Amino acid sequence: MAIGVFDSGVGGLTVLRALRTTLPGRDFIYLGDTARLPYGTKSAASVVRYAGQAADALVGRGLSCLVVACNTASAVALPELRSRYAPLPVVGVVEPGAAAACAATRRGRIAVLATEGTVRAGAYERAIRALRPQAAVVSAACPLFVALAEEGWTEGEVVDLVARRYLEPLLATSTAPDVLLLGCTHFPVLAEALARVAGSDVRIVDSAATTAAAVEGMLGAVDGTTQGRGRLQLLATDDAARFARVGARFLGEAIEPATVEVVDLGG
Ligand code: DGL
Repeated sequence: MAIGVFDSGVGGLTVLRALRTTLPGRDFIYLGDTARLPYGTKSAASVVRYAGQAADALVGRGLSCLVVACNTASAVALPELRSRYAPLPVVGVVEPGAAAACAATRRGRIAVLATEGTVRAGAYERAIRALRPQAAVVSAACPLFVALAEEGWTEGEVVDLVARRYLEPLLATSTAPDVLLLGCTHFPVLAEALARVAGSDVRIVDSAATTAAAVEGMLGAVDGTTQGRGRLQLLATDDAARFARVGARFLGEAIEPATVEVVDLGG
């Protein structure tokens, strides 16, 4: 059975990429709810409803594990999804991201960059404090990064300007962070620009690799060299051509639009 991965759109392909690198022999089925992106500006009630519909569509196809690659959905809908599908393992990105940040910080000062919904939910603060109770954690909503990443503007003066506008208030304080945790699926493609603005004293981490490690720890690896590379099925709730064009940047490889199945989640 495949590992199901869902996100509000194409950003979760950064998590899928890490999963496929860690577990090359496994089959994956990815759903991007592109018709309803962004989740990050929606109410918690809407995100719980959307996430439930996206997850139902994947679970109905038969899964060994469900990965909630969307930070916003992980922050607000994970308990609901875990109880709905138990005993199916449901893995979110918040706890793995918090673990990556706690491993990287030297002074225990972490800034979480995320969507409005994720910041409002406070899930990263809770997950970081559970691992490192003395940590100083600040969170900042950076919704424009989502639009820049979708547009493919990952470098250049507009990106630098927006990054400075979001980061400078965080970096200017006496308790400036030594780790920036990218708590949104879209932000890893902006990591280089963010590193330039933040400076070399600040480490930048995201949840992709630690989420893949958590899934590997749960399911165990299937050897991709002896069994061949696993199958990948891509689903989207809106136009396949846009999903393929924009998604390729996040997945790190070309996507053939004809291979993207468009699904209707209803409501
Ligand atoms: N996937 C969302 C997240 O990681 C970012 C895009 C959105 O707002 O839907 O929070």
